[in-house]
Amino acid sequence: MVVVRDLQKVFRQGDSEVQALAGVSLDVAAGEFLSIMGPSGSGKSTLLHLIGGLDQASAGEIRIDGRVLSRMTDDEITVFRRRKIGIVFQFFNLLPAHSAEENVALPLLLDHRRPRDVRPCVEAALAQVGLLHRRRHRPDELSGGEMQRVAIARALVIEPILLLADEPTGNLDSKTGEEILELIKETAEQTRQTVVIVTHDARAAAYGDRIITLKDGRVVSDLGAAAAASGGRQ
Ligand SMILES: Nc1ncnc2c1ncn2[C@@H]1O[C@H](COP(=O)(O)OP(=O)(O)OP(=O)(O)O)[C@@H](O)[C@H]1O
Ligand SMILES: [Mg+2]
Repeated sequence: MVVVRDLQKVFRQGDSEVQALAGVSLDVAAGEFLSIMGPSGSGKSTLLHLIGGLDQASAGEIRIDGRVLSRMTDDEITVFRRRKIGIVFQFFNLLPAHSAEENVALPLLLDHRRPRDVRPCVEAALAQVGLLHRRRHRPDELSGGEMQRVAIARALVIEPILLLADEPTGNLDSKTGEEILELIKETAEQTRQTVVIVTHDARAAAYGDRIITLKDGRVVSDLGAAAAASGGRQ
């Protein structure tokens, strides 16, 4: 489903260079739930952004559902992402002046879907995250957990084949964070979505079928979730 080969990313700032990814190879099977851990600055967000086509690699290859991202034009990547990849961020990234339902409708409207076709999809996505009753609320009229649910509904409304989430619970208390992870896991199982989440939190990572750890832009461990949990206790 996701194939990453010898991926490198160098950020240049003035005279200095940061090698954020130093040769990452990784396969994520269809339907798999992968957690990415690692210390701050280890390249987790960079890897997720590259897989999501939000930024370009310096070298290496990413294939998603058989498509090689580096061989696509910017426009092709934009359309591919809009139709196939749902992305959830730590700070929700909702449009503040728009209601929950308008935020959720956005990816479909950007894809030129007709408003009357969009409405049932938006309602279904909001119902899926249990927020139909908050549909007319703006982000500042929602709790943090509710904002993240709206962001998840916005990611799910396109029925993505791949759901990416960067610290989706980083801004939530632990109970709300667990509810959000349960929601992601349940919906992924129902829809057979492939999920990749980035997290600092070992308990959050344990929702994954598999956990990889990055350090200095490289994969330093790759474990099934059960093995990772018992390794953590030793
Ligand atoms: N746009 C950028 N320009 C320059 N350097 C960057 C940029 N984005 C990231 N970096 C650098 O690349 C490295 C990896 O960053 P990245 O954001 O992927 O880390 P991370 O593992 O997500 O960390 P955190 O857990 O703190 O979110 C860091 O050293 C960071 O300073
Ligand atoms: Mg990060």
